[in-house]
Amino acid sequence: MSVTNTFEEHIQFIQSQTNKALAKISPKLNSSKYFYDPIDYVIKGEGKRLRPVLVHLSGQAYDAQPDDLMKLGIAVELLHNFSLVHDDIMDNDSMRHGQPSVHYKWDIPTAILAGDGLFTLAQLSLIGLDTYIFQRFNEVALEVCEGQGMDKEYENDHSIDMDDYIQMIGKKTACFLGMCSELGAVLGGASKQEASNIYKFGYFLGLAFQIKDDYLGIWGDQTLGKPIGSDIIKKKKSLPCLLYTSDAADE
Ligand code: IPE
Ligand code: IPE
Ligand code: MG
Ligand code: MG
Repeated sequence: MSVTNTFEEHIQFIQSQTNKALAKISPKLNSSKYFYDPIDYVIKGEGKRLRPVLVHLSGQAYDAQPDDLMKLGIAVELLHNFSLVHDDIMDNDSMRHGQPSVHYKWDIPTAILAGDGLFTLAQLSLIGLDTYIFQRFNEVALEVCEGQGMDKEYENDHSIDMDDYIQMIGKKTACFLGMCSELGAVLGGASKQEASNIYKFGYFLGLAFQIKDDYLGIWGDQTLGKPIGSDIIKKKKSLPCLLYTSDAADE
């Protein structure tokens, strides 16, 4: 078996373990169907689990405790899904993970509340981890919200340039991948310098990831599981749209 296959299998193992741990949350969700059915629907959605994969890979490089990595891995995946449920309301997108987005299947009030619940479940998953983890997790959660605010502001701002764009995607996407990479290593006892370097790795990976997502948002296909062309309709400053409008302005 080639090394590539072994690594791919390792990632698949992390994804399946993450899915199993997420599935254990569902039976605990009871009492209000209005509140819990959409949360259950989101948890069972087919995300790539990229953020937990980053947590586990960097944590395993430092021999972190598997249970701690799983708590953090679940927390970041729940935080991510909270941001997606609210993002789909903000972007008015009808599809996520190959199925109707929450506010399309139910309605906007239901989706707002489901996002709140996912965010709170993420916080609960951090119980037992160090205060520093809790602090960094929430600093980055706040930064993601800042980035989402910039993303909305930029829709109607024609002065946005490449520096603004990088700042925006740095906040809405890259800092999150940075945090996942950093905190996995921190759970394994990485030094401050190492943690900071690993954060940078995740951050730059996140910039590239969002740029590719922007590209696929125009030239991808239905395997993406979300609407194609929606960035153009919403006048998003995605990278292709930004490059097109700055070229058009130069002519
Ligand atoms: C979607 O992220 C939001 C972006 C930052 C582009 P993912 O592509 O990682 O989301 P999943 O895998 O569908 O959950
Ligand atoms: C990604 O937003 C960032 C967050 C959800 C925080 P986008 O709006 O660019 O991502 P997609 O294309 O809807 O997944
Ligand atoms: Mg969106
Ligand atoms: Mg968005």
